[in-house]
Amino acid sequence: MGRRARRPGESGGPRVERSGRVWRVRSLEAARGVLRARGETRQAGFTAEYVPKGWLKHHPILMSDGPLHDEQRSKVARFFAPAVVAERYGEAMAASADALLSRADAAGGVRLDDLALLYSVEVTSRIVGLTESSVPRMARRLVTFFRQPPFDITQPNLGRTPQQWARAAANGLLPIARFYAADVRPAIRRRRRAPADDIVSHLIGEGYTDLDILVECVTYGTAGMVTTREFITMAAWHLLADDGLRERFRAAGVRERYAILNEIIRLEPVVGHLYRRASAAFEITDAGRRWRVEEGDLVDVCVRDTNADERAVGEDALDVRPGRPLPSGVNEAVLTFGDGAHRCPGQPLAIAETEVLLTRLLDREPRIVAEPALGWDDLVAGYTLRGFELSFGRPAREASGEG
Ligand code: HEM
Repeated sequence: MGRRARRPGESGGPRVERSGRVWRVRSLEAARGVLRARGETRQAGFTAEYVPKGWLKHHPILMSDGPLHDEQRSKVARFFAPAVVAERYGEAMAASADALLSRADAAGGVRLDDLALLYSVEVTSRIVGLTESSVPRMARRLVTFFRQPPFDITQPNLGRTPQQWARAAANGLLPIARFYAADVRPAIRRRRRAPADDIVSHLIGEGYTDLDILVECVTYGTAGMVTTREFITMAAWHLLADDGLRERFRAAGVRERYAILNEIIRLEPVVGHLYRRASAAFEITDAGRRWRVEEGDLVDVCVRDTNADERAVGEDALDVRPGRPLPSGVNEAVLTFGDGAHRCPGQPLAIAETEVLLTRLLDREPRIVAEPALGWDDLVAGYTLRGFELSFGRPAREASGEG
């Protein structure tokens, strides 16, 4: 079936390409070199260079670099280790998936992208500790962060006009203020009185201010919840459109299902570009060739290309082939979850969460009523899928094992 998220005008190019002070890297070898050049690069994606950090006591995890960042990461790692995800959150994920799907059973079908949003927000909000507000309302607030005017990260001032900047400030700050008042502040208050085993409590313990905690919650909301929603929809689309793959998924044990999901997300990375600014000169290499990146240059790691780099993943790079041989040290999802200092801590959670929901969804033998519409978002440089309508072929009671 091949890749579904194909972006008009983005059809590959040289493995390493320079245009002025901007580098585009499509070779996996070179891209890994960039993402691992920890001493010589800074985070430049997600508009990090334009987020004012002066008023924060702690730098946000996604946007800081260096030894303090490593320490921040190692302290939150305990919330995301694969064994922790399965043991601590397995039951909650299953309960959340069952509740949402049984509501869909009553309607005989579901708009999957909507259900996936509620599900990913519910699961992640428990781990983060945002549990004092309604999940559907929080989900609506998170989605509004993305209503931003377009931008081009390679241009000075993101290529925006002053009017677009004004609109960006209004569109961005108002939803964040609402998210703080409705979701984050009540969670902080409760945990200041009674700490729990979650990220908000951990950040309070580390001396984070309310504002610092808000910024971290925005990261988890956007980097964690919204990305997982897109992936769930994409993975379901592949599985429903490919009978062989779906049968294999349904017959497989959990490890093989994870391998299938990692292979789908390799082919369909949700975050399409990762950006780094060189804070010092460094070299990148690809198949014996070398280039020198100068201090101040911007490097665009083109994840859709690196993940389909035939030299690394094989000639059938654009097919779904779970368990494909990969060079040693390369993750099953290749660079979908990044690499090096900012590597996503949420991969085991995102994959486990998707497996739990899709296993239950496929038991209902869904059929596609309307394929999702593909769109593109500048902030995560990735795809969006909207309007994926499914009807259930199998009566709900049978699917849940009661019939
Ligand atoms: C399909 C789902 C997901 C995808 C595709 C994804 C992708 C990514 C990528 C590519 C990065 C690295 C950014 C960079 O190097 O510039 C990242 C960072 C991050 N992700 Fe995820 N992510 C997903 C799910 C999650 C989940 C479920 C969580 C947690 C609840 C999470 C939390 C984070 C955090 C905290 C960072 C920042 C890490 C750092 O900068 O040190 N992500 N994610």
